[in-house]
Formats: sequence, C-alpha cells, structure tokens
Amino acid sequence: MYTYEHDEAVRKLLKKRTPALPSELIIKCVRKTHSKADLFMETRGKFGSPLYFLDIPALLERAERFSNAFTAVFSDFTPYFAMKSCNHPQVISTLAGNNFGIDVSSGAELQTALNCDAKKIVFSGPAKTMAELELAVNHAERTIILCDSFTELKKLLSIGKRINIGVRLTTENNPLWRKFGIGHHELEEFINMTENTCVRFCGLQFHSSWNLNPENHVELIRKLGETIKNLPEQHKKQIEFIDLGGGYWVGEGEWMLADTAEEMKLNKQLLNHPCDPLDHRYLPSTDIETYACALAAAAEKHIFPHIKCRIFAEPGRFVAHSAIHMLLTVEDIKQPDIAITDGATNMLGWERYEMDYFPVVNISQMSETEHPMMVLGSLCTPHDVWGFAYHGNGISVGDLLVVPDQGAYTYSLRQNFIKNIPESVVFDGKTVSRVNCTSFL
Ligand SMILES: Cc1ncc(COP(=O)(O)O)c(C=O)c1O
Repeated sequence: MYTYEHDEAVRKLLKKRTPALPSELIIKCVRKTHSKADLFMETRGKFGSPLYFLDIPALLERAERFSNAFTAVFSDFTPYFAMKSCNHPQVISTLAGNNFGIDVSSGAELQTALNCDAKKIVFSGPAKTMAELELAVNHAERTIILCDSFTELKKLLSIGKRINIGVRLTTENNPLWRKFGIGHHELEEFINMTENTCVRFCGLQFHSSWNLNPENHVELIRKLGETIKNLPEQHKKQIEFIDLGGGYWVGEGEWMLADTAEEMKLNKQLLNHPCDPLDHRYLPSTDIETYACALAAAAEKHIFPHIKCRIFAEPGRFVAHSAIHMLLTVEDIKQPDIAITDGATNMLGWERYEMDYFPVVNISQMSETEHPMMVLGSLCTPHDVWGFAYHGNGISVGDLLVVPDQGAYTYSLRQNFIKNIPESVVFDGKTVSRVNCTSFL
C-alpha cells in the first residue's frame, strides 16, 4: 500500500543530487590515454584487436602508491594483492616480484599464486574444501590460512599438518555478509580450539567492500579493538598480525552514467525522460594517503594500546585499476548513433557500462571533445555496451578505440560467451609482447 512515508521517501530521493563528474577528471584520463596513442596504434598493427593491453608501469605505479601510503603510517606493513580483482598471471607475478603478497580465495587462485612464484600468500574465503586446504598445508612455508569457520578449523585439524592460521571476523549483520567469518563473541572459543594442536593461531582478518571513505573501516577497527581488549592476556599475545582486508576505492571516485544515480533512476521512471549521454555522475572518494592515515589513527587508538602487531591489507581494485586497457576496432557503423566494435563485453563478463561510466577514446581521430554515440560490442545480445559516448573527432569503421583503466573486476570475470576471450599483450615499459595466459582455471 502506498502511504505518506512513501511520499516522503520519494520527495527525499528526488531532492538528492549525485554530483556531476568533474570534467577535469575525465580530461586527465583522456589525455593519459592520448599520450600512449602511438603505442596503442603500433600494438594493434602488430597483434590485431581486440586485445587486453597490460600496462605494467601503470600497475607498478599504483602498487607503489598504495604501499607507500601504508608503510608511511604503519611501522610493519605487508600488502597482499587480492587476486580476485585481476587474476592475470602477469599481474600476479609482477606484484609478487615487487614485495606484494597475494590474497587468494580458492584452490585455483592459490595454484596460480604458487605458479607465479608468490612468496607470501593469505588464503581467505568461505567453505574451503579439503582439497583446497591440503594444497595450502602442503605449501605452509608461504601460506597463512585465514579460517572462515569452526568447521574449517576442524577440517584443518583432521589433516594434522603444521600451518599458520588466522581467523576472519564477521563485519556486518547484513544477511548476505554473514556468510563470512565467525562472530566476535566466538573468537575466544576459536583460539581455545587451536591450543596444543598442529595449527598455530597468529592473526585476525576482516574485510569490507566499496569504501569510498574510511568511516566504515575505522568503525570496524574500533569494534575489533573492543574485542581484543576483552581477550585473555595469553590470547592477546598470540595475535601477530591484523589483516584489514581490501575495499579501498580508487582516488578518482566512483564514475557512473547519469541513469545510475538513484534520483535519476526515479526521474526516468516517473517522467520517462532519457538521460543525457554526456551527463556523467560520480561519488567522490578519499585519496589513499588520507585513508591510510585514518586507519593508522584508529589502530593507534583502538588496537595498539592492547597488542603490538603487524598490519596486512588486501587491496584489489586500487592496485589493479590501471593495469589493463581494452583495445577495440570499430567494425561497423549501423546508424549515425551506433558503432559496433570487434571486442565485446564477454571481455569483462558483466554489463558494466550499462551502469558505470568510463571514457571510450578514439585513438584514430583524437580529440578531447565527447560526442554521444552508442558504442556497442559485437555479441548477439543487446546487453553489450562499451559506452553511450566517445571522445574523438568522429568515428569510422577501422578506428582504434581504447577503454582505459579496466584492470579491476573485468579480466577476472571474462567469459567464453559467443566469442572467445581475446589475447593479452604486455607492455613492460619498453616493448609490447604477446602473453600466454591460458594457465589459469
Ligand atoms: C576477502 C577480500 N579481500 C580483499 C578484497 C579486495 O577488495 P577490493 O578490490 O575492493 O580492494 C575482496 C573483494 O571482494 C575480498 O573479498
């Protein structure tokens, strides 16, 4: 039944104003893409398209920025890259060779990390199977298992081999998030169960997603501090690390189509006005240095008075963001407002650009001006969108388009749907070469 409260809620939502994405941010991204135009052109000339273009210097720049932000504020800090955000073996081996540990969440990811010569691995994730736990235990010298439940601990005890473990603590009462970890009130019982057994309990982990600012993360540290404060002294001494998980948003904020902003969705439904394809919105996010400072201040206040320990984090999105650019060629122009590319959104496995905004940059006809155009992939489904606009002087069959900064949660969700998964090439800062990445999954 529609009530007065509904009226109020609608009024409130319609008053909401999701900010416009500042044009400086878009232009910065377009210019950065233009600066590599010759490289992209040569690459397509040599390897064809579509392609995943792995940009190793860009990956390392973000990895270093993350590490620097956290090592500046925590005296003993280790980053573990969350493989689920980008499981390209070249990305994993590059990070593993540059002082990153790897955070894996399945036996398949663990095997990839081992193949990529990762020296430090944390294995998180719910309902690990016996086979997955055995693989971890067989590589105990470089793996810490972050247990997700008492059942998992019992499975590990039944294997009977020595391994370092931590435990994940549940962060939220949200029904779907309750599937992760054990409750704070169960921690003491969990640690007790590890006493005089083959496993060595040595740390705690929690994870929260999609943090545009550190508020939620800070609150979780405060809550964890309370739990630690109330533990028996001998348990406190056992905690050698706290793993703060991932969820650090990229500093540029969350970019979205106008249609995705909540108030615009409602507007569209009520008035049936199509959104302007050049109207992009965003939710600002905190820069990583400020974010790290806020976490360090919270740890100083709530954790370190009770225990001295190492700090781990599991960044995915932040580090992987600029590691991959999508290279596409325009195959067809169907109407003045429809361009179809050779590559399709099976390259990313989900309908990302029906919600998110990212510039589609025409490298063959470069311009900083954006024009409306439906830029679509070539799958036999309408849910195959790269964008509703492009940056360029025009768009023609044969043009090279680049969708930059698509490293996070795209490649790792790729699928053989209608079309094959395209090849990848890697740019190491000097040359571009083809990579064989069939070794995963
Ligand atoms: C346990 C865990 N750690 C780290 C991450 C990485 O999160 P993000 O890519 O947002 O940094 C995830 C993502 O879901 C996760 O589940």
